[in-house]
Amino acid sequence: MSKITAAITAVNGYVPEYVLTNHELETMVDTNDEWITTRTGIKERRILKGEGLGTSDMAVPAVEGLLKKRGISAEEIDLIIFCTTTPDMPFPATANVLAHKIGAKNAWGYDLQAACSGFIFGLTTGAQFIESGKHKKVLVVGGDKMSSIINYEDRATCIIFGDGCGCALLEPNTEGFGILDSVLKSDGSGAQLLFQKAGGSLHPASHETVDAKEHYAYQEGQAVFKFAVTNMADVAAEVMERNSLTADDIAWLVPHQANKRIIDATANRTGVSADKVIVNIERYGNTTNGTIPLCLWEWESKFKKGDNLILAAFGGGFTWGSIYLKWAY
Ligand SMILES: CC(C)(COP(=O)(O)OP(=O)(O)OC[C@H]1O[C@@H](n2cnc3c(N)ncnc32)[C@H](O)[C@@H]1OP(=O)(O)O)[C@@H](O)C(=O)NCCC(=O)NCCS
Repeated sequence: MSKITAAITAVNGYVPEYVLTNHELETMVDTNDEWITTRTGIKERRILKGEGLGTSDMAVPAVEGLLKKRGISAEEIDLIIFCTTTPDMPFPATANVLAHKIGAKNAWGYDLQAACSGFIFGLTTGAQFIESGKHKKVLVVGGDKMSSIINYEDRATCIIFGDGCGCALLEPNTEGFGILDSVLKSDGSGAQLLFQKAGGSLHPASHETVDAKEHYAYQEGQAVFKFAVTNMADVAAEVMERNSLTADDIAWLVPHQANKRIIDATANRTGVSADKVIVNIERYGNTTNGTIPLCLWEWESKFKKGDNLILAAFGGGFTWGSIYLKWAY
């Protein structure tokens, strides 16, 4: 019997309507469009406005669109892996909330937390359930309502992040398409450089933690940049080398959208030319777990069956990783 691989058979995405431009940010903090554009490549980002809306509310339209595209019902999903840093609540899992909202009555699910590398970790994890033969349809969702943990008085972070959600369906393939390899890494020594200090068991929510603004994302931008720029590039190069792939073999490089300069460094390190590098950071900023599935969604119509894709991400923690996959449709 031929080997089972996990192929992406559908992708979809959702971004909220509200557009927060660099010019609007100029009215909120001491910054300017030119600085943000040159340092990050970001021009605008989306914000989920409205009371009572969480990350799952972006996942619902994304997933419902995916099911429609694939022509299947929610009841056919076996497993939902929800990659997010901004779950609706600390518990229960947002995967559960989503399953209930879309009517995925036969699925089990869990949340996966690996900051901006979450979707790469999630795809790799989901693929194991397909390769083992345990499941036939695994839904991997990556999304964040970053605006819920961003301090819009902190110019070092509020210019970078935005809200958005994407998803991919994994199904078995016996023709050699799908996820073929991945390299995943974690290093907890960087935990204090990009994190949300309070709200967990170490520093539970209190008046003091709120007053000290410890429920917002905190980032040492320069330190994170230095770590990200080498590691995301290295891991993409590593997965290519060990699969004997040169830049000419790659149809698309799909990098996490954190900073255009980090994306460029990854492209340079792998030798992939700019026309094959997927970039939408100028419109969405860093949507954390949303960046890679949103890229797949927006470029889906350009992909051809058999295209070699390299996905690469870097995130808080630190976490980083890369996937080599062969597009299946
Ligand atoms: C955050 C980031 C854009 C800052 O860019 P940088 O080139 O490192 O800038 P620095 O922090 O060194 O600051 C340079 C100067 O700009 C100022 N500055 C910082 N934010 C600013 C802003 N939004 N607008 C204008 N000036 C700003 C700083 O105060 C500093 O001023 P000084 O030189 O007078 O002290 C960059 O570090 C970055 O992208 N880091 C990685 C972020 C990331 O990828 N995070 C997610 C990982 S998944």
